[in-house]
Amino acid sequence: MKPLTVLGIETSCDETAAAVLRLDENGSHVLSDIVLGQAAQHAPYKGVVPEIAARAHVEGLDATVAAAMSDAGLGYAELDGIAATAGPGLIGGVMVGLLAGKAIALAHGKPLIGVNHLEGHALSPRLAEGGATFPYLLLLVSGGHCQFIAVMDVGVYRRLGATVDDALGEAFDKVAKLLDLGFPGGPLVEKAAKNGDSKRFSLPRPMLGRNDCDFSFAGLKTACAREVARLGTLTQQDKADLCASFQSAVVSIVEDRTRHAMRAFDPIYGARGRLVAAGGVAANQAIRMCLEGLAEERGYEFVAPPLRWCTDNAAMIALAGAERLRLGFSDDLSFPARSRWPLDEEAARLRPSHQAGRKGAKA
Ligand code: KG4
Ligand code: ZN
Repeated sequence: MKPLTVLGIETSCDETAAAVLRLDENGSHVLSDIVLGQAAQHAPYKGVVPEIAARAHVEGLDATVAAAMSDAGLGYAELDGIAATAGPGLIGGVMVGLLAGKAIALAHGKPLIGVNHLEGHALSPRLAEGGATFPYLLLLVSGGHCQFIAVMDVGVYRRLGATVDDALGEAFDKVAKLLDLGFPGGPLVEKAAKNGDSKRFSLPRPMLGRNDCDFSFAGLKTACAREVARLGTLTQQDKADLCASFQSAVVSIVEDRTRHAMRAFDPIYGARGRLVAAGGVAANQAIRMCLEGLAEERGYEFVAPPLRWCTDNAAMIALAGAERLRLGFSDDLSFPARSRWPLDEEAARLRPSHQAGRKGAKA
């Protein structure tokens, strides 16, 4: 195949990111990978403020793209395409990145690829050398998403189950907020949990044992809020114990749900395969260890992207764009920014023969 070099742009949440990636017959090669975080701007509000995020993307994107191009040592003429996240995400930010991508594509006469952010996460385990080969069972756990996806090929995704309420990263962030730990909450809860007693609080484990692959975290989060209210003033040890108890409940839920997802994945696709974790929460060591153990027990290979590609980044967007370009797909400059954009719908558009709803897949 002809090597394809693609600039990726990611602005769907609170990371302004740009990367250049080359895809050839040996796989993907990340030539540059810049992430400008906005955590400090959002920290006073203990969560991502969409208006602040959009403004920060406007302010930071030009320099981020310039840095990615300069790190890669390339000029725009040497690119084969421009890939920008077109959703799902915070719409103001998505519009900033997508418009910038369109402008670069137009100015330099390059094809534009409007990338589904979830497709970026789904393909991110393939960024690393010797990364996951298709098919694999993906647990996508981020601040906005929590789902199992059977990743069969580029553009062929089937959702096996998802959260019915909060995403797992959202639950981590809300617990951190309850305990006034700071933002973003996930890594801070994980850190606090290291010094805590995971057995001190008896917290619910919603959906445990249910015969499907769905998640629910709202009850667990509410139970944490109840404990905080009951304790009144919290010591550092109380906080650590609550974090440890929360994380331990999360690990049992993830283990049980993944066990069910593997059972669903095995017969549909005929072979035991690979279990892949991606998304910000996949950076959590306790969750990674649990998944690793489970994979070993069931004869699966466990793959997780390096930490920097678990959280939002543009290398995964460039990869998704390059893969789609390789298949002959590009998008019109009228391509819309979308706050909601399920991955299965994308599968239906790219490969009509692999629509959701076949072979027992959940839409
Ligand atoms: O994938 P990501 O960067 O952005 C979204 O697309 O949502 O994920 C961010 C989420 C946040 O909720 C953050 O708290 C969580 O991932 N997260 C973690 C850890 N690192 C990031 N959650 C638990 N443990 C971690 N170590
Ligand atoms: Zn993400």
